Amino acid sequence: MKTIAVVSTAGGTGRTTLSAALAVLLARRGRPVVALDFDPQNMLGAHLGLDCLAPTGLAQAMLDENEAWHTHTWRNSEGVLFVPYGAVSLEQSARCDARLAAEPQWLANALAQLDLPRDGVVLVDTARYPSQQGEQAVQSADLVLCVTPPEPAACATLVARLDALRRGGANLRIIVNRLNPARDMQRDALAMLGAALGDGLRLAQRVHLDAALPESFARGTWLFDDAPHSQASHDLQGLANWLHAWLAAALTDVPAANARRAGERP
Ligand SMILES: Nc1ncnc2c1ncn2[C@@H]1O[C@H](COP(=O)(O)OP(=O)(O)OP(=O)(O)O)[C@@H](O)[C@H]1O
Ligand SMILES: [Mg+2]
Repeated sequence: MKTIAVVSTAGGTGRTTLSAALAVLLARRGRPVVALDFDPQNMLGAHLGLDCLAPTGLAQAMLDENEAWHTHTWRNSEGVLFVPYGAVSLEQSARCDARLAAEPQWLANALAQLDLPRDGVVLVDTARYPSQQGEQAVQSADLVLCVTPPEPAACATLVARLDALRRGGANLRIIVNRLNPARDMQRDALAMLGAALGDGLRLAQRVHLDAALPESFARGTWLFDDAPHSQASHDLQGLANWLHAWLAAALTDVPAANARRAGERP
């Protein structure tokens, strides 16, 4: 089982949209998928098929020791298992943050309770980084997808947090979302990001801006079904293919990594 954290250093970048779309696209490729909403916005469930914001989820397990988070699991029509964050008041949200600050391993421990097959994947949608949720997801992940629009302010916040994100130790990939090549300013913002990232930007995945994406969400459908030949659908399928291949390669890496570790022992 591998864990993929979907993070960003700005709000409204498309984390939840991409987490939900990738969960479905990976499930359609035959992969066992769990999606965790680790953001008090509690929106992932709505993207994955709930018609209201889920009242309970991970937060209730953080607030009450006797509450098991997996009792709040849903399965959508695509076979994706998902756990909402749950509805929280301002005071409850602060208590959740305090618990996470006191228990930096809270998410890692929750993930350890999952009984997914080896080829399974957990996608974690997170609160905007830096946050307790974002930090724990980065620390627990095998792969971190950092979503940014190619806008100056968003790119500047990403550059400022790059070292902290890299310290998490996981593989870090940039996803440039809402790309509109017609806008010069986006080219300038990407040039700034490229200077900070070096090779990282060359390896970045790109998802184009598509006004039909929020409309598909509002209708409860998927852009890649509504408009399969659109550029953004093509980008999302390409990103899912890349992840699917990365996950397959990561599986075969495990024995090699173990062998390396075994060889290092005195
Ligand atoms: N490629 C895209 N083209 C057009 N609209 C997009 C694209 N990606 C995301 N959006 C839209 O941008 C808005 C924000 O997306 P989303 O809620 O997924 O971002 P987020 O990073 O999870 O935000 P938050 O910080 O509030 O959690 C939504 O209306 C979504 O439909
Ligand atoms: Mg979100």
